[in-house]
Amino acid sequence: MSPRSDHHSRHGQTAQPVDDRLAFWARQAGELDWDTEWSEVLDWSDAPFARWFTGGKLNVAYNCVDRHVAAGHGDQVAFHWEGEPGDTRTITYAELRREVCRTANALLSLGLRAGDRVAIQLPMIPEAVFAMLACARLGLPHSVVFGGFSPAALQSRIEDAGARLLITSDGQYRRGRVEPMKANTDEATRDTPGVEHVLVVRRTGTDVPWTEGRDLWWHELVDVQSDRHEPEAFDAEHPLFILYTSGTTGRPKGILHTSGGYLTQAACTHRTVFGLDPDTDVYWCTADIGWITGHSYIVYGPLANRTTSVLYEGTPNTPHEGRHFEIIEKYGVSVYYTAPTLIRTFMKWGEDIPARHDLSSIRVLGSVGEPINPEAWRWYREHIGAGRAPVVDTWWQTETGAVMIAPSPDSPSFKPGSAQTPVPGISAKVVDDQGVEVAKGESGYLVLDQPWPSMLRGVWGDDDRYRQTYWARFAAQRYYFAGDGARYDDDGDIWLLGRVDDVMNVSGHRISTSEVESALVSHPAVAEAAVVGASDATTGQAIVAFVILREGAGGEVSVDGLREHVAREIGPIAKPRRILVVPELPKTRSGKIMRRLLRDVAENRQVGDVSTLADASVMDRIHAGLADAS
Ligand code: PRX
Repeated sequence: MSPRSDHHSRHGQTAQPVDDRLAFWARQAGELDWDTEWSEVLDWSDAPFARWFTGGKLNVAYNCVDRHVAAGHGDQVAFHWEGEPGDTRTITYAELRREVCRTANALLSLGLRAGDRVAIQLPMIPEAVFAMLACARLGLPHSVVFGGFSPAALQSRIEDAGARLLITSDGQYRRGRVEPMKANTDEATRDTPGVEHVLVVRRTGTDVPWTEGRDLWWHELVDVQSDRHEPEAFDAEHPLFILYTSGTTGRPKGILHTSGGYLTQAACTHRTVFGLDPDTDVYWCTADIGWITGHSYIVYGPLANRTTSVLYEGTPNTPHEGRHFEIIEKYGVSVYYTAPTLIRTFMKWGEDIPARHDLSSIRVLGSVGEPINPEAWRWYREHIGAGRAPVVDTWWQTETGAVMIAPSPDSPSFKPGSAQTPVPGISAKVVDDQGVEVAKGESGYLVLDQPWPSMLRGVWGDDDRYRQTYWARFAAQRYYFAGDGARYDDDGDIWLLGRVDDVMNVSGHRISTSEVESALVSHPAVAEAAVVGASDATTGQAIVAFVILREGAGGEVSVDGLREHVAREIGPIAKPRRILVVPELPKTRSGKIMRRLLRDVAENRQVGDVSTLADASVMDRIHAGLADAS
């Protein structure tokens, strides 16, 4: 048998004929409440621009909230919210509906109309969910920006999306401290005339700068609104949100997601990957709402499935390293979904910490964001999952919108470190340079060879970039290029191997090397910079930068000053772990920086093949310079 047919026979999903796949997704979409039935499941005639459930109309917020209340579940808890300082709030579906209606009425009172964009930068507080759902209810695409992003990063996202409203808070709690938020967003909106209003949630009670006429307090505007609002149905392809993510160039891409297909796949995967039972499970996804995991698996998927969730505002070690386990015990969390970087941090803190808590409620564990190393997988199962809970490793991306590859929770054979198989309705392949599927035991590039309902619909305002980034690499086959390396094992199961492009993965956050390089060279003392991701036992990768200083700048600039500069330009998550000042950078004859060699230096390895360097002695000079400096 050829390797190709081999895979087909093993992966039921891969072998699934197109008609069956479409019928599968039509059944999944049928779990939602539609105002108008769709006429066609998939229109791929304008590929790579997909249209799912064409002609169908629905309201996403109605599906996440009102229909559960209408079905008699108004008293069910939607969120058990835990604030970092220990304050709590329990929000039932009935209350969620009232809050979302009030927020929607407030946004209407500001003159916002379907299609207008709203930027949101908020901590993990209930208002973040109310704001997202109010936008969805009114057909206002939201752009949520992670709270750790700098004013400059927020500004560029506000401008790119053309947001009319920004929703933020006075401050936020970070590791027991109160940090400003409004002061930063004010800096971001200094030169964004398109932002007509800034709606501010009072969270920390700190003093804030105020622009009369533009700034509005949430409690003054929203709380006085009617808690009734009739939702309007929008086209299945109406934009739901834009979420910016790092690509291989300096400028982040606004990934566009739409309504019907996105909600269908977010809900379906949430239900099937975790085997979720809305009547008995208590679910907790520890991501931040500013990332896609927060969108799909804190807000849209779980709410569409009428889930009872935990929403936690703070960091895992505030006020102590057992905080997550305390929360699991307190609410009887049965499904816990987190990232390998946190699992490795728990490992460092020690297994005696979870052992002090009753974690017997745990039924399923999930992992997302980066490849999970087998050691972390085993520790997770043993110390959080009592040695019996299945660990589902879920592979997906901001662009895919929802989980694409994951073992089934009742899989007979879990493999620590492997995401294993495409989920039902999804098809993925590992291919070589030419786009030909590789044999078992071999590695190559991960591609998605069939469109899927929650796929990105484009890059906001840049169709060409969408085509170039995702569809040009395997244009002949019309495969979506994920940017990840992958391998089939001898059973044909998929193992993810990390990015094959210049995107780093630091604690599950995607950061492009060129984004950090641009930040560094924007410093007056830096002439040139090259950035690589070096392996790190806890964060997966750590950012290591090599910089050439401008003539005469040597004495005036400190490495710490440069690190702070990057944090100011992008955000603390992009701060390089190490910055090495070097006399030169290794380049090919065509002037391309050879990052592979720099990675060797960053990871303290013997430097590899230097034969393609324009000047083979560069590496010796770099080493000599570093030896002098240390
Ligand atoms: O490299 C893959 C890695 O994270 C990238 C997507 O990052 P982002 O869009 O920020 O979304 C993260 C959360 C969905 C992928 O290209 N990645 C994500 N999950 C896994 C993973 N790598 C290996 N195994 C995973 N389970």
